[in-house]
Amino acid sequence: MSEDCICQFVIFGATGDLASRKLLPSLYHLQCAGLLPEELQIHAVGRRPWDDSGWLEFLREQLESFAGDFHPEHFEKFAARFHYVRGELHEADLYQNLAKQLTKDGAQQPERSIFYLAIRPQDFFTVLQNLSAAGFHRDGDYRIVIEKPFGNDLESAIQLNEQIHRHFREEQIYRIDHYLGKEIVQNLLVFRFANLPIEAVWNRNFIDHVQITVAEDLGVENRAGYYDQAGALRDMVQNHLMQILTLVAMEPPPSLEADTLRDEKVKVLRSIRPIPKTAIHAHAIRAQYGPGIIDHQHVPGYADEPGVAPNSITETFVAAKFYIDNWRWRGVPFYLRTGKRMPTKSSSVAIRFRHTPQQLFRETPIDRIEPNWILLSLEPESLKIELHVKEPGLEMRIRPTQLNASYRRDGEKELDAYEALLLDVLEGDKALFIRFDEVEWAWRAVDPFIKRWSREMDYIITYPAGTWGPEEATRIMDKEDQFWRNQL
Ligand SMILES: NC(=O)c1ccc[n+]([C@@H]2O[C@H](COP(=O)([O-])OP(=O)(O)OC[C@H]3O[C@@H](n4cnc5c(N)ncnc54)[C@H](OP(=O)(O)O)[C@@H]3O)[C@@H](O)[C@H]2O)c1
Repeated sequence: MSEDCICQFVIFGATGDLASRKLLPSLYHLQCAGLLPEELQIHAVGRRPWDDSGWLEFLREQLESFAGDFHPEHFEKFAARFHYVRGELHEADLYQNLAKQLTKDGAQQPERSIFYLAIRPQDFFTVLQNLSAAGFHRDGDYRIVIEKPFGNDLESAIQLNEQIHRHFREEQIYRIDHYLGKEIVQNLLVFRFANLPIEAVWNRNFIDHVQITVAEDLGVENRAGYYDQAGALRDMVQNHLMQILTLVAMEPPPSLEADTLRDEKVKVLRSIRPIPKTAIHAHAIRAQYGPGIIDHQHVPGYADEPGVAPNSITETFVAAKFYIDNWRWRGVPFYLRTGKRMPTKSSSVAIRFRHTPQQLFRETPIDRIEPNWILLSLEPESLKIELHVKEPGLEMRIRPTQLNASYRRDGEKELDAYEALLLDVLEGDKALFIRFDEVEWAWRAVDPFIKRWSREMDYIITYPAGTWGPEEATRIMDKEDQFWRNQL
């Protein structure tokens, strides 16, 4: 083990949904792959009245349900790393017990540690305050991992950040947006900056518009308590979609160091044209799913889901348009769209090029040549460039073809985003974590919509579950020949 190795990993909220579905399976897969530091100890914090064996039973059940490939021999080694720490988040005793566990062999200070806050955001501050009082603070070698949402709007995000910074330095904070852990999102940087022909056309002279879509086929499931307060704009657009937008639009950074990369992303966010109050409707549309059919099954509308207020006007769909006012992108619309209960689970970036300047083939059976596309699907993974070729035969006819630029070969396994990000936290690499100014500027971009919609509480349009959202979603597009690219 290297001297720099972090040896203590503490999970607050170890019995919660995120821990069960993501953290524990990812740590387990890293164990199976031999990627966890040998001496790493994991402390699971929960309030259930268990001892270590009660915890281990729970751990085994969660891995059997969510890890996909449970191997008893790996489990034994994995289980040996765990300690269960019982306590209430707001009680000082919990942190005293933790401090004892993490202070080894009569040392003065607890060992270097990672604290993963898989808990409700409203409990963040209590935990950080208590950690600090127990000796884990800004002067020590501690890392704090937090999950979105980073606030509910600009003001609350700034407030949360001030609270965090009372006890910890920005360098100690790892804000997770798991989209950044997806390999194909990182491949976007390689595709752009390792391929001269691509980067040469990646600008307003060649690109007509950019579409970013994150579609879910699921409804609100068991998250109504959180989601009905948040809605799609806060839940998806402010974070995942904005992060993808920054990677599509950023300038090449001088290096891949975390801060140079994040500086470039912030420049993009700062260049987003502020949306005037009078132009909100021209720039965005929100909607809610009604009843419909998905996979041949009837599903209820959002307002009939358990835990949702029957008169809720929370949006489950947003389509929004942003302009980036810089030399590269001035005048190119970025259309962002996300929704629940859409026909399929998919995430994509579709980049449409301009029309060719000359319609050379107009005297032939070819009426019109459609523009080319670059189609990057994050889920399922694929990367294609859509071009035109001549149809074989005597007549001059064309048809589209797709060059497949997908990077994964058959049999090459996809690393789960959380596995990649957890390894980065262990290694102290912050390139794929979000700095506070990114959070702040992303909130600034969406804040005009939040403010306006919070005053329009009477009505929301609906779309049938199982569709790509309301027909009105094309309303925000600049030109008649632009359309949402649903099939890649
Ligand atoms: N779930 C996801 O897929 C997901 C995705 C993105 C971001 N996030 C974020 O991740 C965080 C965790 O989400 P989650 O879905 O895992 O929430 P969750 O299922 O509600 O889990 C919360 C955890 O906190 C524990 N807890 C609550 N109050 C406590 C108290 N007073 N003392 C001790 N423990 C307490 C719960 O213990 P009990 O089990 O005993 O109730 C549970 O382990 C949130 O910030 C959420 O926004 C989650």
